[in-house]
Amino acid sequence: MTSNHQPIGIFDSGVGGLTVLREFDRALPNESVLYFGDTARLPYGTRTASEITDFVRDILDWMADHGVKMALMACNTSSALALDRVRAEYDFPILGLIFPGARAAVKAGQRIGVISTPATAKSGAYGDAMREINPGVEVWEVGCPQFVPIVEGNRIQDASTIATAREYLEPLIDHNIDTLVYGCTHYPHLAEVIRPIVGDRVTLIDPAAHLVRATTRELDLLGLRATNPRQATQFYVSGVPSQFAELSSRWLGFRPQVQRVAFPGMVDAHADRPLVNAEE
Ligand code: DGL
Repeated sequence: MTSNHQPIGIFDSGVGGLTVLREFDRALPNESVLYFGDTARLPYGTRTASEITDFVRDILDWMADHGVKMALMACNTSSALALDRVRAEYDFPILGLIFPGARAAVKAGQRIGVISTPATAKSGAYGDAMREINPGVEVWEVGCPQFVPIVEGNRIQDASTIATAREYLEPLIDHNIDTLVYGCTHYPHLAEVIRPIVGDRVTLIDPAAHLVRATTRELDLLGLRATNPRQATQFYVSGVPSQFAELSSRWLGFRPQVQRVAFPGMVDAHADRPLVNAEE
């Protein structure tokens, strides 16, 4: 039987999911979290739906073995391409970002831009979800292949990042958008670059906050809210733990202890520490 003190699993390909964790920690301070970043296999956004679905199954199987009571896909690409396929395969609820983000966007405006990974843009998941809620909205989805490598490579402050961001955003500005959705969880880390380009008249939507609201409702509905104080968040990655610890400390405000997980069959190319066995 599921107990309300089991942890919630939150995963992304890398540090993008920290933008979800930040909202989560504010709203649900008693919940314990198992955070997983699939850093050995990022970026997800240039992969196929079947690759992404396989990766997501690896992660959810591992989370199931670690007794999560719920999982959050803190990754739009997984939410767009894998959530519908895998949801019924697990006996805990799995929540994604697309519908919470789409609902918030159609409430905010009529001419909506979505910036995302190429895979999410190609799927059309945000546009489909928004038009399902309100057939009257106009939606433009733009794939931004350089943004995730910029964030993961710690190059946000580089001068060239502004030029890259302009290239992605100008077509949306030309469409006179009133609302812009961060359709990838890495992108709120680029807010200091994106906001000045789009200006103050455009409403920025971060689906993370809306996913966390949906999570709160789901926990209440199922009677699964934790009541005792949480345990410290546990961080795991598939790549190099020290790299994730270094990069994430900027947003977490502390340097986390990070452990490495290798899934069966995964190439062991980046190890700098002993493995935490995925079957543990
Ligand atoms: N942060 C993820 C997303 O929201 C994945 C980015 C990537 O690995 O390409 O889509």
